[in-house]
Amino acid sequence: MASKPRRSTDTTRRSAARPNTSQPSVSTTGVVPDTATATTVPTPAAGTTTGAGADTAAGAVADVALSVWTTAQAAPGTQRKGLYTAESTAHPAKMLPSVAAHAIAHYTQPGDLVLDPMCGIGTTLVEAVRAGRRAVGVEYEDRWVSIARANLDLAASHGHDHDAHVFSGDARALPDVLPAEYRGSAALVVTSPPYGPSTHGQVNVVPGGGVTKYDHRYGNTLDRGNLANLGLHRLLAGFTKVLAGAAEFLRPGGHIAITIRPWREHSELIDLPSQILACGLRAGLIPVERCVALLARVGEDGLIARGSFFQRDFIRKQREAGLPMHLIAHEDVLVFRTVKAPSRSDESARRDTSSDRRRRQSATRARGSQRARGEGTR
Ligand SMILES: C[S@@+](CC[C@H](N)C(=O)[O-])C[C@H]1O[C@@H](n2cnc3c(N)ncnc32)[C@H](O)[C@@H]1O
Repeated sequence: MASKPRRSTDTTRRSAARPNTSQPSVSTTGVVPDTATATTVPTPAAGTTTGAGADTAAGAVADVALSVWTTAQAAPGTQRKGLYTAESTAHPAKMLPSVAAHAIAHYTQPGDLVLDPMCGIGTTLVEAVRAGRRAVGVEYEDRWVSIARANLDLAASHGHDHDAHVFSGDARALPDVLPAEYRGSAALVVTSPPYGPSTHGQVNVVPGGGVTKYDHRYGNTLDRGNLANLGLHRLLAGFTKVLAGAAEFLRPGGHIAITIRPWREHSELIDLPSQILACGLRAGLIPVERCVALLARVGEDGLIARGSFFQRDFIRKQREAGLPMHLIAHEDVLVFRTVKAPSRSDESARRDTSSDRRRRQSATRARGSQRARGEGTR
């Protein structure tokens, strides 16, 4: 079914550097714990470090559309309740279901195919089938592959029994992992890169006994096949391969939406979104939107942060130490598209051009032979 990407109702086309006064916006590094008011929409986030390609990448999105997605009006647990298996909680870096749902609603039509090459517990796939789309995913860790399949079974048991498959493998070699029949057929890729081997995961707080972390790793930390275990440069190189491979499975003009949560290393915010933007450009993709997907609820008086216990504890300690940090209140969603198939009018324009060229060439040849015969010259 043909899919014409619909624009988000909350999209404004404007220079990314200018604050959007008509939309809820977020402070550059997040919000003050509990409530905060908006200052500017970051592109890229101020106070962040830059990396290879970030300058070029920032230039490439200077004039793309910028939207704010109100994706955290319900808490993550509420968004998943009853729709994902209990085992899903164990994944340390799940996508917010409403982020995937928003991208799917705006860039696909019912019946379209949605792909996630690093699908984790299958959030993209579940949200796709729940919206009446078909879905295909790839995941490296067997544990998450099984959970993604169980989540699709659960969706099917709720009546969302659309064509959906999860393949186990390395997304850097997507053309070898996915059957050829999927080539050129997806309307949309929704995915998110892993960032560092350790995430906040889950915490156990024992009064007086401190805090213990669990489920904060993607899998075996020694396995170099998992991009989470690689240094930043190799992660970016690997992710560029994933994007280039994914583009082969998109139909002409299809879209890729990448959601990237801000990531801190030694208290410093890494500008991963700009670096992922550079990966997309290197993979030959065309940036079309840079969006702010809120992780905070939009309340009457501003944003209400939804930071975890661990995040709040971290921010509190940093502030006590004199570093004015904020809770992270959004993630970036970068939207790219592949080159469009030529439209009928493009085709006929091209045919006209070549027949014009043929007419011009034969006129030139005729003039040349007239000259050779000495006819018609002045
Ligand atoms: C940020 S998580 C994605 C989570 C997913 N969106 C969800 O909601 O469950 C990144 C995922 O990429 C997977 N991954 C890492 N390296 C991979 C590779 N080479 N090929 C495929 N998947 C990989 C990780 O195991 C992890 O599940």
